[in-house]
Amino acid sequence: MAESTTLRLNGSVVSVTSTPDTPLLYVLTDELQLQGPRFGCGLAQCGACSVLVDGRELRSCVTPLAAIGAGAVTTLEGLPALLAERRQLAQVPEFTPLQQALIAVQAIQCGYCSNGMQIKATELLMQNPAPTEAVIRSALDGHLCRCGTYPKILEAIQRAAQAPGGAV
Ligand code: FES
Ligand code: FES
Repeated sequence: MAESTTLRLNGSVVSVTSTPDTPLLYVLTDELQLQGPRFGCGLAQCGACSVLVDGRELRSCVTPLAAIGAGAVTTLEGLPALLAERRQLAQVPEFTPLQQALIAVQAIQCGYCSNGMQIKATELLMQNPAPTEAVIRSALDGHLCRCGTYPKILEAIQRAAQAPGGAV
């Protein structure tokens, strides 16, 4: 019988049976059937697989399950709940201000990069609620969008930063 490991994920504690050397991405997608994190390059180069661990972006394609330990993992699916927790909201919103902005400016084409963009932008906006354009560009460096929607993503992050009460 496979040994189980507990994982703090999106506000809950889940039990998984993947081996400790399994990349976190495969635990999230294959075992837990999450659809936010994506496999892109598998080499920590594109950002499609990014998640937050204790509020910091991490490339889950190259991070073994064992490396997470007691870290709190947040995936794309958990971003609205993270917002609710940070703002002590009674209800979890359907979308975060960033997600609303991405939709409003039509920044998502195929959507493949959007998970990583949102994870990275959330990390940034938690650390810096009013980032300059240069800071946003620097933060997104290393997140690849094959559809070339960078200007729209930039616009959405700037728009989200101006949301009442902040973006995150
Ligand atoms: S799939 Fe992990 S960085 Fe590209
Ligand atoms: S929207 Fe297609 S990869 Fe970015």
